[in-house]
Amino acid sequence: MAIRKVGVVGCGLMGSGIAQTCAQSGYETLVREINQQLLDKGIAHIYNAWDMLAGKARINRSQVDEYRARLHGTLDLADFADCDLVIEAVIENMEEKLRLFPTLDHILKPEAIILTNTSSLNVTQMGAVTRRPDKICGLHFFNPAPVMKLVEIVRTISTSHETIEAVKQFAVSLGKTPVLAKDTAGFIVNFLLIPYLLAAIRMLENGVATRDDIDTAMKLGCGYPMGPFTLLDYVGLDTTLWAAEAIYDEFKDPLYAPPPLLRRMVLSGMYGRKSGKGFYDYQSS
Ligand code: CAA
Repeated sequence: MAIRKVGVVGCGLMGSGIAQTCAQSGYETLVREINQQLLDKGIAHIYNAWDMLAGKARINRSQVDEYRARLHGTLDLADFADCDLVIEAVIENMEEKLRLFPTLDHILKPEAIILTNTSSLNVTQMGAVTRRPDKICGLHFFNPAPVMKLVEIVRTISTSHETIEAVKQFAVSLGKTPVLAKDTAGFIVNFLLIPYLLAAIRMLENGVATRDDIDTAMKLGCGYPMGPFTLLDYVGLDTTLWAAEAIYDEFKDPLYAPPPLLRRMVLSGMYGRKSGKGFYDYQSS
């Protein structure tokens, strides 16, 4: 089946980046949020990114107009009825996903593919609450979604070969390099990245070194583009906590047990960049 129209559920940090990427890559793109304020905020974020790219002469004004014309917003999931493929990018909460998947299943045409951008939740469980588990898999983007080249395709026990092939082609059409992983918590990247980020927090808790020295060490010592605390704030401390909990739940490996400081920062609303404060303070910038 040719993919022409893509639906994205959620226009937050990841959903807006995914919708931007789809519209830029030539797809009619419809993005849904739960209220007008969040939708306007997400679309303004995408428009700003295109204006920034035009300002740097990476794209021209007529491309910006083309991209804008392909991107539409809605508050109503029923508008997804003619989408060929839908990417779910809502909050990392299984109950939320288990409400959304059967709803999408009833609205979409039978041949449509449903993908989840979950970073560590069980994709098989999401497929199991629909009548099309063969057409469901994970497509996990990395933040910032328009820039990072990787996507993880997450195959469940029920995903068909045809779906995987179609999703691979779709990923390549977005300019991404796909890698394939089985549906186990954390897939490839978070399974390796989360213990590193949690270890940095434990190191800070134990007073081994300062935040700034740990960040500098990993940037200059390993050539990472961001140190662990800058990256934690960038990804979101709430997202990191959910990912750590999901992987810990599955394997009960202490490497993934969230350190007390992380849990307390999230409880205090310190989510990182998106809330204005995390390990660093963004309120003045
Ligand atoms: N749309 C399109 N292009 C964009 C963009 C956007 N929204 N935002 C930035 N860009 C482009 C910029 O125009 C720039 O392009 P040019 O080089 O052509 O000018 C390029 O991206 C780099 O941007 P900046 O110059 O603003 O910033 P930078 O060089 O400092 O790089 C970064 C920023 C790409 C974020 C880099 O710091 C980086 O790679 N950091 C690590 C990010 C990372 O590890 N992400 C994965 C997190 S894990 C995750 O997401 C998974 C999970 O489930 C938790």
